This record gives sequence, structure tokens and C-alpha cells, in this order.
Amino acid sequence: MCGIVGAIAQRDVVEILLEGLKRLEYRGYDSAGVAVVNSDNSEFKRVRRVGKVKALADAIHEEPCLGSTGIAHTRWATHGEPTEANAHPHISKDRITIVHNGIIENHNVLRDRLSQKGYVFTSATDTEVIAHLLESELDKASDMLSAFQATIAQLEGAYGTVAMDNQNPDHLYAARSGSPLVIGYGIGENFLASDQLALLPVTRRFSFLEEGDIAVLSRSDVVIYDQAGTEVEREISESDVVHDAGDKGPFKHYMLKEIYEQPIAIKNTLEGRIKSGVVVEDIFGPGSSEILKGIEHVQIIACGTSFHSGMVAKYWFEEHADVSCNVEIASEFRYRKSKVHPNSLLVTISQSGETADTLAALRLAKEIGYQSSLSICNVPGSSLVRESDMAYLMKAGVEIGVASTKAFTVQLVGLLLLVVAVGRHKSLSKEAERDIVSALSALPAKIEQVLDMSKAITLLAEDFADKHHSLFLGRGDQYPIAMEGALKLKEISYIHAEAYAAGELKHGPLALIDADMPVIVVAPNNELLEKLHSNVEEVRARGGLMYVFADTGANFKSDSTMKVLAVPHCEKAIAPILYSVPLQLLSYYVALIKGTDVDQPRNLAKSVTVE
Ligand code: M6R
Repeated sequence: MCGIVGAIAQRDVVEILLEGLKRLEYRGYDSAGVAVVNSDNSEFKRVRRVGKVKALADAIHEEPCLGSTGIAHTRWATHGEPTEANAHPHISKDRITIVHNGIIENHNVLRDRLSQKGYVFTSATDTEVIAHLLESELDKASDMLSAFQATIAQLEGAYGTVAMDNQNPDHLYAARSGSPLVIGYGIGENFLASDQLALLPVTRRFSFLEEGDIAVLSRSDVVIYDQAGTEVEREISESDVVHDAGDKGPFKHYMLKEIYEQPIAIKNTLEGRIKSGVVVEDIFGPGSSEILKGIEHVQIIACGTSFHSGMVAKYWFEEHADVSCNVEIASEFRYRKSKVHPNSLLVTISQSGETADTLAALRLAKEIGYQSSLSICNVPGSSLVRESDMAYLMKAGVEIGVASTKAFTVQLVGLLLLVVAVGRHKSLSKEAERDIVSALSALPAKIEQVLDMSKAITLLAEDFADKHHSLFLGRGDQYPIAMEGALKLKEISYIHAEAYAAGELKHGPLALIDADMPVIVVAPNNELLEKLHSNVEEVRARGGLMYVFADTGANFKSDSTMKVLAVPHCEKAIAPILYSVPLQLLSYYVALIKGTDVDQPRNLAKSVTVE
């Protein structure tokens, strides 16, 4: 999704802006642009290109531009096609330059009003209204800050925006309303971005703008005003985020690298959180154990892959902790009336911590009476973490591939720890806790074994590359894993994939079965195995072709209608985590054969900051 970088320095900032944009590429975008101005205002230049940041960098290197103040942007089209004219930055009357993330909901009204005043629009974007509106406010206001404040007051929607006055390049103006912005502090230079990753080469000192904040950056200073216009201090913290995105190592894609990082990511997330066979107290934040003691119901909210991890957790909460649990897609939860159960814990799950729907759902949940909220999140300092009462920082390491892999399995580990932390005050025995903790300790080694299946999965992928549809089946806590497997396949290979709870086949989807519809089955050796065998026979009887990822003891045999890939035996509690790995590999190798853009699949974004 869109990315913003801004810099004001005593040196040329073009390379800083380009590097920042490169670091935001993983979020998904379709065009990019940079605008810079010299501190003596002798030169203003804007360059925009459709496509990758590399195309923008090549254009700049062919016709170099210099500037010590500048803003840059990667655009993920919402209003208007991905064209150069629609790419940011947008300009008004050669004076005001704007970049913007999010959506201005009242852009039509503003556009009409500004057109009547004589402003000429050169793009189909909602962003351009901000540039013209700010330019028009400058006529009335005493200074740029007042004009910027008056402009922001008229915007409706969720956005983060940065403005540059080309006639006064000694300041940048930024506003946050629903879309994140972080300030980076240097010495004699300051920066801002929509994600701290963009600024790690130039600073490690950051503060996060809060909702409604306006910031004015100069080379020597950053002044922040809150929603009421009062000058405020926002805490500056030292970031320990590691960004290793520049290095794919021996891997062709970040996605594959991240799949292979799962054993170490799981070790890292468990580090200091389990000890002597039990889950350590207060791992969800100071005082969290006391809060979790009183929990009688869990409400989980998330989107996409994170929603699937929440669905697995529902099975776990009700089985191991004897606590009722609902899971809901954030974009549904936020627009309906829902009931708050007494002593509920609200859990949001998000890799990025900036997903607009999840954030809005958290805010709504607080409004309607949830007393305790916990975020399971991979990005320290993200909006979800800052706005939740408790947090589990996943420590999965930066995830660059748009298709979430290691974040998913690490989310599941965090959720299983949460189930234990809640369950130990309910029905979960000490022995059961020890069993789960010991299974979790063994998980990284089990995943290494699954990664060794890679060669066999590559061969299997060849059967899929010419298919247009597929079906994923699982039962119990493997049903969400089937859903996640289907999401991965469609996301990066563009093959239509649907997931069903295997028992549901006979209620409709069986009609789809034929030799052109591969059926993928996840089959650990659990109490539902016999039922699953029957479902497999239902498919076989209708001429379906099956690919079964089965426990070594699950008694499936390869034949002309079924290819079986043996998955190492594991404890029941960790099976959903383990079985998600071969499905990740399958979708990766299918996408590789199809030649799609694995790390940045079409139309998708890593961090979905608009609703
Ligand atoms: O950052 P989040 O976990 O909140 O993101 C939610 C979804 O957008 C995300 O999981 C998406 O479904 C992934 N691209 C799936 O691979």
C-alpha cells in the first residue's frame, strides 16, 4: 500500500528518499515519485514513474536532480488508474507539493469547490484536492502552518499527508489521521515516513504521531501539535528493529527466505517466554497475568492470514482452556452491532499493526465496552500495539513478502502461549501445560524436517501449474489451515482456490469435483482421521485427484488418484502450525512455475492501511 518518505537536511536528500522508497516496496504499489527543492529555493524538481522504484531511480540518475528538502511516495491506486499523472507528489500552482496515504472521502465536494475557484486538476486522485486546498488556504492564512491546519480541518477520511512549500523549503508539514506517520530524528536533519523501516539507514530515533497530530519539521527541530492545536511532546525512542530486507541470501524470493526462517523465528518468539517447561508469567505485558486470570470469553479480530490464525486459536481456546472464543473479520466487526460478553478479552492479530480495518475495530471495541485488549503483532511501536492495553511482540523479524508465512506461524505460537496463560486459570492442567510447552520447544526441529520435503513438493507443484481451480480440505483445527493454504495459492499463483471443512463437501462442493480440480488435503493423525478418510473416499468416488499431506501414521497410500506426502508426526497442539508449512511451499513452487511476481503479487499490498 502507499508509502511516504520525507527529509529535510543540509545535504542532498534524493538518495535518502529513493532508499526509503525501496525499503517500502514490499508493501505493494504501482507507481512512485519524488519531489525535491534546494534550501536556497533555486531549483524544484518532481519526477514520477509508473512501475517500480527502480524505474524512478533510473530516470533520476539519467537526469540528476538535487535538493536538501524533499518528499517521496509509492502509490497503490485507489482513486484513478496507475498512471504517471496520478502518481504522487501532486502540485498546486508550482508552489505546494503533497504526498498522501489513505483516502479523502469528501474529495468530490472539495474538487467541485476548488474547480469553481479556478483550480485545474491534472489527475483523477483524491490527493490533488489537498494540494489545491492548501494553496487556496495560503491566501487567507497568516502563515503556512495556519493554512495547513485549516486544510486538514476540512478533510474527511483516514489519511497521512506531508506538504512542502516550494517557496519556503525550510519546513515540512505532516498530519496523521488514521494512517501512520513516524518522525525520524537526526543531527541537523530530520525525516518522516509511513514506516520506520524506510528511515533506518539515517536514524534510529523515532517518535510516532498520534491521531490528529500535525508536525512541523525543520532541519534543527520538530514541533508537534495535537488535535486541539496545542504543542505536545511525543516520546522519542531508540528503535531496535532489524531490517535485513536488502539481503535475500541464497533465496530467489523473500517469501522462500521467510518460509525457511520459520524455525529461527519460532525459537526467537519463544525465547524468554517459556522456562522450565511452563509459560513465563506476564509475557503479554506487565500485570497481564493478573488480567488474564479473570478472562471468561475471548473475542478475536483480524484480517486475511491473521484472521486464519485467530480461527485456529478458537479451536485451541475452547479445547485447552475451556474458554469461549469468537473470531471475526475486522471489516465485518467494525460495521455491525455486536454483544460484549462479561469479562471478555479483545485480541487483535496483525503482522503489520497498521491494518486500517483491524485498527478501527479495536477502537470500536473499546467504545462499546471491552475493558482489556491485547495485540499480537510483529511491529513494535505500530498503532495496534500502542493502542492496546497489552501486547505480544512476535519477534518474527521483518516480513517482506506480501504473502504472509513466518508471521502466520509465529502468530500461532503466540496464540498458543495465550491459550496456556488463560487456560491455566481454568481447566488446563499443569501436565497439559508442560505437554504444550514441550511440543512448542520441539516445533523448530519439526519444521526443519518439513522444509526437507521441499524437493517432493516441487514435483507436486508441476501438476498444478496448468490448473485454474483447486480445493483445500481439512477438519477441526486444520480447517483454518486449509483456508490459509487456499489463500496463499490464490494470492501468489492466481489459481482460484477454495477451502472447505471436509465434512461440508457433500453439502455442495462435491459437484465441482473432476480431474481438473486438484484437491489438497491436510491429514494429521488425530481423532478426526477416520472421518477424513471417508471424505477422501467421497472425492475418489467422483474421479477427483488428491494431494494429501498426511501424518506418517495416518494410513494414506499413493495410487493413481492420490499422491501422499508424509509429514513427520507431531503433538496435536502444534499440528496446525506444522501443516501450514508444506502448503506455503506448495503455493511458492506453483507460483515459481507460473512465473508470477511472488513477493509483490498483482493488486495486493503488504500493509493495508486503507479500508
Ligand atoms: O498486517 P496484517 O496481519 O493485519 O494483515 C492482514 C492481511 O492483510 C494479511 O494477512 C494478508 O491477508 C496477507 N497478504 C496474506 O498473505
